[in-house]
Amino acid sequence: MMTLPEQIAEELTNALREELGEALPAGFHAVVTASQDLQYGDYQSNAAMVLAKAARKNPRELAQAVVTRLAGMAEATVSVAGPGFINFRIKVEEYAARMVAMLGDERLGVALSEQPKKLVIDFSAPNVAKPMHVGHIRSTIIGDTLARLARFMGHTVITDNHIGDWGTQFGMILWGWKNLLDQRELEEHPIDALLTTYKEVNKRCKEQPGLLEACKAELVRLQNGDAENLDIWKRCIEVTKRGLEKIYDKLDIHFDYWLGESFYNDALEPLVNDLLARGIARESDGAVCVFSDGKHAPKDDPFLVYKDGQWQPVPAIIRKADGAFLYATTDLATLDYRISHFQADSIWYVVGAPQEKHFKQIFDIERMRGVTGDFRHVAFGSILGKDRRPFKTRDGETVSLQDVIDEAVQRAARVVKDKSPDMPAEEQAAVAEAVGIGAIKFAELSQNRLSDYIFDWEKMLSLSGDTAPYLQNSYVRVRAIERKIDDPEFAAVLSGAAKPQILLNEEREINLARSLARFAEVVPATLDDCRPNLLAAYLYELARAFHSFYEACPVLRSENPTRSSRLALCELTARVLRLGMSLLGIRLLERM
Ligand code: ARG
Repeated sequence: MMTLPEQIAEELTNALREELGEALPAGFHAVVTASQDLQYGDYQSNAAMVLAKAARKNPRELAQAVVTRLAGMAEATVSVAGPGFINFRIKVEEYAARMVAMLGDERLGVALSEQPKKLVIDFSAPNVAKPMHVGHIRSTIIGDTLARLARFMGHTVITDNHIGDWGTQFGMILWGWKNLLDQRELEEHPIDALLTTYKEVNKRCKEQPGLLEACKAELVRLQNGDAENLDIWKRCIEVTKRGLEKIYDKLDIHFDYWLGESFYNDALEPLVNDLLARGIARESDGAVCVFSDGKHAPKDDPFLVYKDGQWQPVPAIIRKADGAFLYATTDLATLDYRISHFQADSIWYVVGAPQEKHFKQIFDIERMRGVTGDFRHVAFGSILGKDRRPFKTRDGETVSLQDVIDEAVQRAARVVKDKSPDMPAEEQAAVAEAVGIGAIKFAELSQNRLSDYIFDWEKMLSLSGDTAPYLQNSYVRVRAIERKIDDPEFAAVLSGAAKPQILLNEEREINLARSLARFAEVVPATLDDCRPNLLAAYLYELARAFHSFYEACPVLRSENPTRSSRLALCELTARVLRLGMSLLGIRLLERM
């Protein structure tokens, strides 16, 4: 089934074709958007304004003429004020019909994508033996949601955790492993143990002459394939993976592959040679670099920067003068592999905004090589503390994901104990985990990903406002209503024995139905723009529409057929909340 705006756009385009005939530009398709203000209607279009000039018509008159040709599922009017907006108010029968269709559709009206992609999503990607910081939290949560949405839309999705498992940090780690590391601590807290070691060696390097050289020598031995160092390196990765997997399990986030940076080591030299041979890269001061090929305007050229009054080159370095390869080299090899091995046509990188230049350069080098696809850098801003400075622990350390999870669950446990003292302890713990983790995820996903946001425990765990606990609680309430009412007519609808009858007489019933019908539009739009906050905001709106419906429209105290119609609206609300929250990776509970 088409969504409402798609259907209106189709009808409107047909009406414009009838009205304008030859004067309608070939391939024109009217754009219809949701109205900001329901006073004028549910949807609107500026198509008449867009077309009027070329058709040599007055936009208002064109709008008026087109409106008289429309006789579909909406009442169309032309705005009294303004230059010719067409407004559409969906007829109540149409909403009722949509509710019936949704009840019989496990996708709740969301159509599968017409162009299924083979999509690799690169997210989380922390670095071994380095702290997993808040940037990784954002990437992990946003990336997982995009993967869930894309799968639901029918795309083939490959999630790949491109961990930083090969880098100069291993020089210090190897030295630390041999000279400092506490093996017991390593078994119990692998990620912390490696991190502490790394920090300690780092500190000593600044004080102890010759230590830095000793670390570098360890690194060179590793790079040259020294068996002992390779062995230690492998163990570092193993314990890190095991530690990470525990965190991901808690978050219910899973990867199809863990192809870290080291996986591409053997591909780097041939890649650089190929780029040299094809003239895409050249030597500069002993290093191998890719410079601009002049195909972009300077302001859009990722290999140029405006400095001191002129455009200056910022090449991508793919091999240093000492022969070492770089982050960019690995990313080029990774992209090749994803295309050749996974046959990916789309590759999305969920990585912080500071790496914007890096990805622009990578994608532009691909263009120079003639490789095209839907390559996206899904960027995001930072997380700030309440003081609007980068989110840190009290002693100024980066906050680890593990600590954030632990604290969220602890705080949620206190709330649960407070609100539901009679709940068995085991259930309390399960609720606390769902609420705490849900709260972190929702706080992240309800933000515009490009803006910085303030990490605020009180706000994210609050039972009111746009938070996970509010939505989880809304779901619990809907389910409680359904459980309380034993209505044979509605039971027959649910079992498929009777056809549902939806009656939308009250304003708030219509509002709720409107909100429910919009789910079909919101899910694809959320994925198209890679903006989970669209879906998060929608779910909040839906919960609010439900609460105000429930306040004004009694369910228990109403008679059939109203009662079973209202129960159907409750049931649809529960289903949309369940599916919508599952796309955000957030668990709902039957009780809280
Ligand atoms: N490990 C990197 C970091 O922590 C992120 C990697 C993102 N993925 C990629 N293909 N570059 O910044």
